[in-house]
Amino acid sequence: MIAEGARERPPGELMRTVPALSERSIRTSPLVSDSPRQQDFRHALIPPRTPLFLAMHLNSVCFRAAFILALAVSLTSLRAADAPQPRERLAFNAGWRFTKGDPAGAADTLAYAKIKDWLTPTAADFLNAAAPRPARPAGNLGGDVAYAQPAFDDAAWRALNLPHDWGIEGPFAQELPGETGKLPWFGVAWYRKHFALPATDAGRRVYLDVDGAMAYASVWLNGQFVGGWPYGYSSWRVDLTPYMKPGEDNVLAIRLDNPPNSSRWYPGGGIYRNVWLVKTAPVHVAQWGTFVTTPLVSPTSATVDVKTILENSTTAVANVQIAHALFELDAAGRKSAAPVVTSVPASVRIAASRQAHSAQTLTVPQPKLWSTRTPQRYVAVTTVTQGEQVVDVYETPFGIRTIAFTADRGFLLNGERLPLQGVCDHHDLGALGAAVNVRALERQLEILRAMGCNAIRTSHNPPAPELLDLADRMGFVVMDEAFDCWARGKKPNDYHLLFADWHEADLRALVRRDRNHPSVVLWSIGNEVPEQGQPEGWKLAAHLAAIVREEDRTRFTTAGFNNIASGYNGFQTAIDATGFNYKPNEYPKFHQSAPQLPVYSSESSSCVSSRGEYFFPVVDNKLAGRANFQMSSYDLYAPPWAWPPDVEFKGLDEAAPYAAGEFVWTGFDYLGEPTPFNADTTNLLNFTDPALKERMTKELAELKKIRVPSRSSYFGIIDLAGFPKDRYFIYQARWRPDLPMAHLLPHWNWPERIGQVTPVHVYTSGDEAELFLNGQSLGRKKRAALEYRLRWDDVSYAPGEVRVVAYKNGAKWAEDMMRTAGPAAKLTLAADRATLRADGSDLAFVTVRIADKDGLLVPRSKNRVKFEVAGPADVIATDNGDATSFESFQSPERAAYNGLALAIVRTRPGQPGTITVRATSDGLATATASLTSR
Ligand code: GAL
Repeated sequence: MIAEGARERPPGELMRTVPALSERSIRTSPLVSDSPRQQDFRHALIPPRTPLFLAMHLNSVCFRAAFILALAVSLTSLRAADAPQPRERLAFNAGWRFTKGDPAGAADTLAYAKIKDWLTPTAADFLNAAAPRPARPAGNLGGDVAYAQPAFDDAAWRALNLPHDWGIEGPFAQELPGETGKLPWFGVAWYRKHFALPATDAGRRVYLDVDGAMAYASVWLNGQFVGGWPYGYSSWRVDLTPYMKPGEDNVLAIRLDNPPNSSRWYPGGGIYRNVWLVKTAPVHVAQWGTFVTTPLVSPTSATVDVKTILENSTTAVANVQIAHALFELDAAGRKSAAPVVTSVPASVRIAASRQAHSAQTLTVPQPKLWSTRTPQRYVAVTTVTQGEQVVDVYETPFGIRTIAFTADRGFLLNGERLPLQGVCDHHDLGALGAAVNVRALERQLEILRAMGCNAIRTSHNPPAPELLDLADRMGFVVMDEAFDCWARGKKPNDYHLLFADWHEADLRALVRRDRNHPSVVLWSIGNEVPEQGQPEGWKLAAHLAAIVREEDRTRFTTAGFNNIASGYNGFQTAIDATGFNYKPNEYPKFHQSAPQLPVYSSESSSCVSSRGEYFFPVVDNKLAGRANFQMSSYDLYAPPWAWPPDVEFKGLDEAAPYAAGEFVWTGFDYLGEPTPFNADTTNLLNFTDPALKERMTKELAELKKIRVPSRSSYFGIIDLAGFPKDRYFIYQARWRPDLPMAHLLPHWNWPERIGQVTPVHVYTSGDEAELFLNGQSLGRKKRAALEYRLRWDDVSYAPGEVRVVAYKNGAKWAEDMMRTAGPAAKLTLAADRATLRADGSDLAFVTVRIADKDGLLVPRSKNRVKFEVAGPADVIATDNGDATSFESFQSPERAAYNGLALAIVRTRPGQPGTITVRATSDGLATATASLTSR
């Protein structure tokens, strides 16, 4: 299995340039049969990339103009003659039925170990050409399972729309593991959908594309087993054509099975990503069948290679013409009126029931480069014609940019050093759970971008495809990660059980799906895999990296190492860029030992804090700072392996410019992994209320275990509800040095601390600051080299106003202030957007603040707030960022946590109008916010 030769890697700067032609051809699958004619065509089409050729190509403007005109005219006339779209991609999320559990007997028949051979053929296109193609067993799986049968009466099942996460519906349960959010995401569930296929679908290919289903999916159409995919984070396709009934009703049934003890975080349960019905002509572009690369980029021109896999599902040879037109995309994703360039149509012969490859090269003059600041996108529109008929039109958005991971200057985007100011994030969307929602993802990215974040690591699994669309459009670079473990597991039922049979398909599927996104710059083959420390571990790394390189040589392979040994035992040379987790002091040693290898922090900090909590005395021992199952927000606290942000900054600055930057653990709090409040008896120390402590001690004696209420993480820079913690501003100060800002902590409501030492810490993009308490200066401080916060550690608390004035280069730069608030008097409401789309998925995130009569936030308030909506929208979730709350996320009522709560309001499809959100709380003045849905 393991390709030893793959260990060799090019030394020095890993600039991705044009691979040799032989390397560039797409992996040959057993279905592919390139006729000699097609190979001739390919070589004729791709001219050598010499300056002479480029000059000739650019000069042939007259020819090109004439050709563009001809193509446009011919496409228009072909389309007019041909009304139905040759390809349809239909959202398939509406109108499903759902139930938990199996019908009698099915659990045994459908256990993965028994049905594995039925599932593996679904992945046949994602195996190496040399591997034997898994064959479907004879007969029909599940022919005797009631829920799979079309005639089964599912009227009593719950009706719902996808994406759906059954786990987030709860309820939270104390006895469930905090590690996975104390939520019931595990177990078996079934989804069914009745749908009509028009009679005109006869003769077409019809596919079900599932962006993600958690987990071990099996699919039946009209009672016939059609395939499935076990890894819950992969996107996959099953072919419905053989069993579809055009002109009749059809019934899909999908069974999912989430084994307990299979995840280190909250995975969610259900068909939690989007589902599509894709209809094509028998001859069409294959699944993820285009690969657009830009091997030569200069200010005056960019070479764009478009490789296409064409599939012929008929029993006759197909002779087709393929042509590409490249358009600019604007920020809203609209195509430019005219293409910037079109290719010469090329002939391709596709043998019966085979695939064939086409490769064409186009040149974009004066390319507009994609970057994190100017995320310009293009789209390649591929048109396939057969005779007079347009049989497929396929769009591939892409970007033109160069990337390099260098050993001496870090990461280069378009030739310029771009420090990676990144965060790791899990896939859950807080109160919405794992169910993907584009607006919720976009809001996360907006909050991150305002902090100065420019990079996302999709820890530790393939993301929803929409995340990458957003990253392309908004300008983030992405480390796209495949696995949290390989053959050796971290949990009894995690991916290690699938690794042997599925890693190749999962990895190829990830790369093929995502390799046209300009945002993707790193392919991570794994996070902290136990194989790191094994002497032979690098061989597996080399094997996986080789798979990735077969699919894409234009990005860099990487992995997250927490074991220092892997920086020296051969692992580091199996991949292109070495990612260290929590090793701020290791870069110089590594760089010295391997000066030719790029290095960066794939995971940094893991500081823990709870928004708005501050515990005293403030000490620098990173293991301190806990009380009441919350973490102090002085941003000094972290578990034993981790660090406050300042320590990671120092490590990176001492290793600049060769260390490329960091991905902080994490951008947002997530469900599960509530470190340091995992379920062990030392948690008893966290009860400060003596009565509660006594009760718990008694309970502990009886139960021999402690009841820890924590169900979500404390690692986030931003809490689960999306409210920035103090830490947000230490990153903003560093990552946006040109933004005048200052942020001081803690809040200034400490009636019990009058006269007591209450340290004040300040994060600023300035270089100096002066602190004032009630108008009195407490001194002006300058930031020393490698110092990232200013500290006034001996402030004696007095109510009133604490204010900081920051300076940069001697001039006043920014201010921040905290004033002691009076008693809670009113609510204030603020929505993130005033105008929404009436599409049934757009969201408003509405923040309620508990304020005193002057509008100041009452920082320790926990008042209960009730949300109501009038108009065409619904409150679908609420949250407050408290990691210990067991209140249902679907409740329209919620206690504020340290002054804040959130309501998530969703529009109704096709129902425009005015939406009024009203928040009420006993004894406080009510607040309303008005939104428009259109
Ligand atoms: C890392 C791990 C992450 C998360 C983090 C918490 O070692 O890769 O998944 O567990 O620790 O600090």
